[in-house]
Amino acid sequence: MKLLFIGDVVGSPGRKGLASVMPALREKHSPDLIVVNGENSAGGLGITEKTATEIFACGADVITLGNHSFRQRDSWEYLDRAERVIRPANYRRANPGKGHCVLEVTPADGSGPRQVGVINLIGMIGLDAARSPFDEADLILGQLEKSGVGTVIVDFHGEVTSEKVAIGWYLDGRVAAVLGTHTHVPTADGRVLPKGTGFISDVGMTGPRDSVLGVKKEQVIEKMRTNLPVRFETTTGDVWVMGAAVEIDENGLATSFTQILEPAG
Ligand SMILES: [Fe+2]
Ligand SMILES: [Fe+2]
Repeated sequence: MKLLFIGDVVGSPGRKGLASVMPALREKHSPDLIVVNGENSAGGLGITEKTATEIFACGADVITLGNHSFRQRDSWEYLDRAERVIRPANYRRANPGKGHCVLEVTPADGSGPRQVGVINLIGMIGLDAARSPFDEADLILGQLEKSGVGTVIVDFHGEVTSEKVAIGWYLDGRVAAVLGTHTHVPTADGRVLPKGTGFISDVGMTGPRDSVLGVKKEQVIEKMRTNLPVRFETTTGDVWVMGAAVEIDENGLATSFTQILEPAG
């Protein structure tokens, strides 16, 4: 089974970039499952039904989120309703939406249909997790195992590389892939860990590189130089699509990891 995972889609430039690059990525990687992080898809902050629909129209099967999950108050009801849009599982249970989903995937390799679980987790360091992502992963993996889900993908939304690397090792051999998101900057440590989990600290973003993490660089520099409030806007220049392709065997473990860094036009 082939997984294509795409990092944080930032605003309309990110959505347009994704739409323009996805046909070539699909051609090159022949994914059976596409997971896209959409936490910045609505003007850089959060997600709406409209931006989610655009991402699904690009071929996404599941959309994951992060610390901006609830920025669009009008979309809380959508998060409750959407079966394949997930927010961090270790947020408060009463929060809108859900933290994992299960879908049936029939890989093109003829290996037959399989149940695949996708889990979204958020880190505790520098972010607002309600519970430990380690304990939450144990809890959900236990539930998924009982219901016969043998292939699991994790989007770990984390601020610091130490926590991301630690959760990668913690889940090595237990899930097919742990893909880091949130920093919007890709790391160079993508690989298959020794027990068979595809891992990268951060896949990076789908958005404008001519920016600071998607925001107009002049505004971020002004904010950092002066400590005065500055209104942030998403910029448009030099959009790249960043992610990873992971091949997964019949045991639900990764056999290859390929980093994706693709300029959009
Ligand atoms: Fe993000
Ligand atoms: Fe984030």
